[in-house]
Amino acid sequence: MASLEEKILSLRQTLNDYNYQYHVLDQPTVPDAEYDRLMQELRTLEEQHPELVTSDSPTQRIGGAPLEGFKKVEHHVPMLSLANAFDKQDLLDFDRRVRDGLGVDQVDYVCELKIDGLAVSLRYQDGLFVQGATRGDGTTGEDITQNLRTIRSIPLKITDQSTIEVRGEAFMPQRSFLALNEARETRQEEPFANPRNAAAGSLRQLDPQIAAERHLDIFIYAVGEWQTGSLTTHSERLNYLRELGFKINPEWRQCTSIDQVIDFVESWVDRRADLSYDIDGIVIKVDRLDYQNQLKTTAKSPRWAIAYKFPAEEAVTKLKDVILSVGRTGAVTPTALLEPVKVAGTTVQRASLHNEDFIKEKDIRINDTVVIKKAGDIIPEVVRVIPEQRQGDEVLYRMPDHCPACGAELVRLEEEVALRCINPSCHAQLMEGLIHFVSRQAMNIDGLGEKVVAQLYEHKLVQDVADLYQLDRSELLKLERMGEKSVDNLLEAIDASKQNSLERLLFGLGIRFVGAKAAKTLAIAFDDMDKLKQATLDDLMAVNEIGHKMADSVVRYFQDEKVLKLMNRLKELGINMRYLGAKPEAASEASAFYNKTVVLTGKLEQLTRQEAKERIEALGGKVTGSVSKKTDILIAGAEAGSKLTKAEQLEITIWSEQQLVEALNQ
Ligand code: IVH
Repeated sequence: MASLEEKILSLRQTLNDYNYQYHVLDQPTVPDAEYDRLMQELRTLEEQHPELVTSDSPTQRIGGAPLEGFKKVEHHVPMLSLANAFDKQDLLDFDRRVRDGLGVDQVDYVCELKIDGLAVSLRYQDGLFVQGATRGDGTTGEDITQNLRTIRSIPLKITDQSTIEVRGEAFMPQRSFLALNEARETRQEEPFANPRNAAAGSLRQLDPQIAAERHLDIFIYAVGEWQTGSLTTHSERLNYLRELGFKINPEWRQCTSIDQVIDFVESWVDRRADLSYDIDGIVIKVDRLDYQNQLKTTAKSPRWAIAYKFPAEEAVTKLKDVILSVGRTGAVTPTALLEPVKVAGTTVQRASLHNEDFIKEKDIRINDTVVIKKAGDIIPEVVRVIPEQRQGDEVLYRMPDHCPACGAELVRLEEEVALRCINPSCHAQLMEGLIHFVSRQAMNIDGLGEKVVAQLYEHKLVQDVADLYQLDRSELLKLERMGEKSVDNLLEAIDASKQNSLERLLFGLGIRFVGAKAAKTLAIAFDDMDKLKQATLDDLMAVNEIGHKMADSVVRYFQDEKVLKLMNRLKELGINMRYLGAKPEAASEASAFYNKTVVLTGKLEQLTRQEAKERIEALGGKVTGSVSKKTDILIAGAEAGSKLTKAEQLEITIWSEQQLVEALNQ
């Protein structure tokens, strides 16, 4: 009789096989009921013998408690993006650059569908899936292992024992997307705009249970860190990855000329509608890996690949009305209400009209038949009207003179196209300001969506951002759809936001021209709110990246009595006013790179180009791409070529990689 351990192993094997057939090959071999029965059997055995549970067991896909936040993950090999091609000519140019760069007449390409999801990296050690991460900024992503484990087409175990990292696109199939949005609407939650946002939102959940319910999927299309031996082409890699059990999109094709590539691209313009997931283009890659290495990468993207983007989809519909919204800064924006129409997989009912000039220029009238277009996840916009379709009942639209929210007179500031409400107590602006304050990049208060903010505002529980920190539990419980649990969660999230680092508060306050990035720069430079409050125009402008317009806006902001009162209140309520993040290394004049222009060339072995660049810049140096008289130091890695020759001619200081590393470490 088989031992208990063998029984468990065999159940796991069978279930993993069924899972693979169903989720990777799309060819279920047993009825769901049979799968569930075996799974239950395995679960029971594992419950009785917890010491026999392993991380690759199919029972362990959804495991672990909700996280507090995501850990950071460094990508040892950067996750690059791709340059875009928009038409045939761009593809021909790409092919020319590739062949010229290699000095050859013919190159094989691989064409793949460009899946519209989000890039993730999966790391395997000793055959086990150990870490999954988002792309982030390409160098640092977030650890979303728990959520990725819930994707059933990701193998938890593979037969390759070396440390390997594969990359692919996680996405939400259209069917899952429609079901999800339907459920959200029933619960009166905001639907997701498109499958990509829904996938991204799902992978950012701290509780893996939620990701598990979202039915995400993945296609693997590249490798990151990779030691697996003798493969010489990208197509061989795809085949090998497939053999290892990864889900590879079956529609890839090897092409022996750019004309074949163009045929492939064109064939998908219409066929994409038949797919059960969204694609936004075709990715074209040079097949031979030695060619890829020869062609190298620019700072952002490889020279050996390009993404052909499908033209934005257009649709024709009727413009029923124009509504106005008042933004956080008082800008009044017109939006077209449309007869619902399907574009690029989603139903569109609104389109942006931007501003008054836009409406006039395009002569857009109510009841007009209009062409709208949707590009990526950007809100659809009206491209043009079809005047031939006019029936005579069209009405010219004029922007109002008064704010649709508070009734104050609208003004058009100099050199601006937008009409603005400049009433500081306009309730639409105040509410938008609150929504901005709690948003993810700002104070990041979970559970405070637009609807709840509107409720709080309308019930006069919150009039300004400080009021959020004085909410009363019993008052909240009286609101519609607010149970004990959601109230407690909300209060907890608000309380937690008090510990945010200064840049979140700064961005959240909505000071004009101060975006998330500038807020961080200011927080690092001034360290605490009091110092920033007292900063003069000159102090501000002395900070790298802060220009006159922003400096002026900050100074004016802190001159306002109301703002100063608000700051005091926030402080009394215990909101952190200091920068808590890491300080970048101080650029010191003593550094060998201070104010020096540096060029990197050749292969670096001890650190990546990106690392070298960042560290030189942190020490006050500037890294440029080409050698000229202005270059101070050339770092020549292995096999340095023409840049080295040129630097020698110009008698520029030349350092080896070793000298670079030593200088960086000093
Ligand atoms: S290859 C270094 N292949 O498109 C090249 N990317 O801008 C790595 N994408 O960030 C990308 N389908 O998120 C590649 N078959 C495919 C893809 C694909 C979708 C995404 C990926 C990447 C972006 C490129």
